[in-house]
Amino acid sequence: MASLVIIGAQWGDEGKGKVVDLLAQRARMVVRYQGGNNAGHTLVVEGQKTILHLVPSGILQADTRNVIAQGVVVDPAVLVRELDALAARGLHVGPEQLVISARAAVIMPYHCAIDAGRESRLGAGRIGTTGRGIGPAYEDVAARRAVRVGDLLDRARLDARLDRVLDERNATLTWLGSEPIAREAMVTELLRLGERLRPLVTDAECLVRDAVEADVDVLFEGAQGVLLDVLHGTFPYVTSSHTVSGAVATSVGVPPWRVDHVLGIVKAYTSRVGEGPFPTELTDALGDRLREVGQEFGSTTGRPRRCGWLDLAALRYAHRINGFTGLAVTKLDVLSGLETLKVCVGYRVDGRVVDALPADEGVLARAEPVYAELPGWQGDLSAVESLEALPREARGYLDFIERELGVPVALVGVGPGRRQTLELRDPWTD
Ligand code: IMP
Repeated sequence: MASLVIIGAQWGDEGKGKVVDLLAQRARMVVRYQGGNNAGHTLVVEGQKTILHLVPSGILQADTRNVIAQGVVVDPAVLVRELDALAARGLHVGPEQLVISARAAVIMPYHCAIDAGRESRLGAGRIGTTGRGIGPAYEDVAARRAVRVGDLLDRARLDARLDRVLDERNATLTWLGSEPIAREAMVTELLRLGERLRPLVTDAECLVRDAVEADVDVLFEGAQGVLLDVLHGTFPYVTSSHTVSGAVATSVGVPPWRVDHVLGIVKAYTSRVGEGPFPTELTDALGDRLREVGQEFGSTTGRPRRCGWLDLAALRYAHRINGFTGLAVTKLDVLSGLETLKVCVGYRVDGRVVDALPADEGVLARAEPVYAELPGWQGDLSAVESLEALPREARGYLDFIERELGVPVALVGVGPGRRQTLELRDPWTD
């Protein structure tokens, strides 16, 4: 019995949803602990595509309880829409399937409006956010004036919270040139949504602690990626939550030593949405090819993702922060058909070579990738069912990643379907 955290090791969009879906077959509990509906996890099961933004990916498993913990910021309208979509697929979602922390902060209409207003004001200096109100919602947590999910169940509590925050947020909206939010209509809608969510709202963290203390298999599902962490990422082009493995302890409230395994999800190449540094970015036809073949368009915003070579120097940095015990390399099939593959193994900065991503933004801006070249492979990998059946060069590529990072590859993705995953090691035990 063990607990396992799944971390996007790059800038998000590594294919975590599929891995969580696979590993959730064993987990009795799947916990989302940070981020909000800026995430989008695409699951393909029996040929049917489901995109989840807030509901943990374990929802498709019959005997798995899913938890939205307090570190998540919840847009109740989005959550209710997602529950309606699952119901339309015939999936019953009651408290045995999903619970939501009463302490999770709510993404309010003014957060979305401020997010949009700020981005347009920043112009060329914008972050490239998903526009879902994530940053302003986390600001209100830090400023101790957030509306929390539990407040949606009680008009008096909701009113008291709004007294602390609404005037100031509306003043910001006016300053940004946006419409202020009308209080009464917003309150009516929030209370309606609160009623819909009421059966699922509870002290979710207590249930998670009970589960880890009882040695139940618990999967913690990270969203976004290490390089988007508000502290450790490529600041200021980051999201507003902690995306690293340590966040499980603080965002859920379980002792750090209760997390047994850390699976880093590594896409076989790199992608990034939004602005910010991306040393191995390919702005040529090869980048376009990776985007087309890999279908690199945001599952939340539909934006085309920037694509580039695998960056092991960035991954080395990510590993040092997260302590990966295993890796899942996803989308290996996308690299098929290339003559030669480049992999960044370090950066040249001011005449010297460093082997990990520089944390300082000024230094990073001057960093030039140093590439190793590996032979590519031909042929379609999507029907490959074992490591031995992979072309020799593809195995060489995986070996190179393993050697450079000193972390074993546990899973390899060769296509979008649940079954298109090679299981080399058990991430729950190795
Ligand atoms: P925010 O999280 O909407 O504030 O956006 C901040 C940055 O994080 C932007 O560059 C977004 O494109 C990026 N981002 C947020 N969520 C995701 C995700 O799930 N995948 C990839 N990038 C994301």
